[in-house]
Amino acid sequence: MAKVIAVSNQKGGVGKTTTAVNLAASFAALEKTTLLIDMDPQGNASQGFGFNEAQDRDIHELLDMAENPDLLSYDSIKSTILDTRLEYLKIITAAPDLAALEIELVNKMSRENRLKRVIELLKPHFEFIIIDAPPSLNLLTINTLTAATSVLIPVQCEYFALQGLAELFNTIRLVQKNLNNDLKIEGALLTMYDSRLSLSKQVAEEVRSCISEKVFQTVIPRNVKLGEAPSHGKPVILYDVQSSGSQAYMKLAEEILNKDLNKEITNG
Ligand SMILES: Nc1ncnc2c1ncn2[C@@H]1O[C@H](COP(=O)(O)OP(=O)(O)OP(=O)(O)O)[C@@H](O)[C@H]1O
Ligand SMILES: [Mg+2]
Repeated sequence: MAKVIAVSNQKGGVGKTTTAVNLAASFAALEKTTLLIDMDPQGNASQGFGFNEAQDRDIHELLDMAENPDLLSYDSIKSTILDTRLEYLKIITAAPDLAALEIELVNKMSRENRLKRVIELLKPHFEFIIIDAPPSLNLLTINTLTAATSVLIPVQCEYFALQGLAELFNTIRLVQKNLNNDLKIEGALLTMYDSRLSLSKQVAEEVRSCISEKVFQTVIPRNVKLGEAPSHGKPVILYDVQSSGSQAYMKLAEEILNKDLNKEITNG
């Protein structure tokens, strides 16, 4: 059964999509069967794999179908799962029309559970499912947190980094209480770290002191290759495997795998 990791922070431009795309690619490079789901109407994760136009079938259609669980089966949704250049990585894309669903859902029954219904059918077919959430705390994000087993929070090493984190943790607690008791915090991930800047170091220290036990050892450096790779429709591992960005995301994947392995050993 897949572990489902939501990459979420309502703050814009903190490295959510870069993390979702490159963490998914790193798991796939380690031969873990992985699915990346784009839940952001901006479609940036889809574009990161060269899907620049709306596809015939995408996440919007699946969330529509999920209104009636009787219509939903793995067979009815599997043609939405697209191949990428990486053998072990598949993707379900998103396009701008997903923004309209957010509004349609407001008055619907079970509006928070649509993605969960879809993911329950996908879980047996993958080891990891990574979801790229939009920069808001709207129903698309609530669906993402409701469907996930854990949430990974990218935090940009900039001034104001901690702003909004309290609100995010509040939302996570509400989801844990009302919609998804099992939701765990995978960890906060420091992104765009620049070792030459004292500000980066300060922010890193501040984040570690606020949410100490839940911050990843791995830190993602500011690296120009991470910014360039999406314009080639590739994760950084296929664009420049030697780059510091590529190596950092491989390290992050290994850190998550090792943490899970240690937990399994401790739990017997
Ligand atoms: N470690 C990094 N080094 C250099 N550039 C980065 C890094 N991480 C992200 N970027 C760049 O910063 C910008 C924002 O990153 P990204 O799109 O991943 O953030 P986001 O949180 O998904 O944004 P949004 O809130 O709009 O969804 C992008 O142009 C991306 O290429
Ligand atoms: Mg994004």
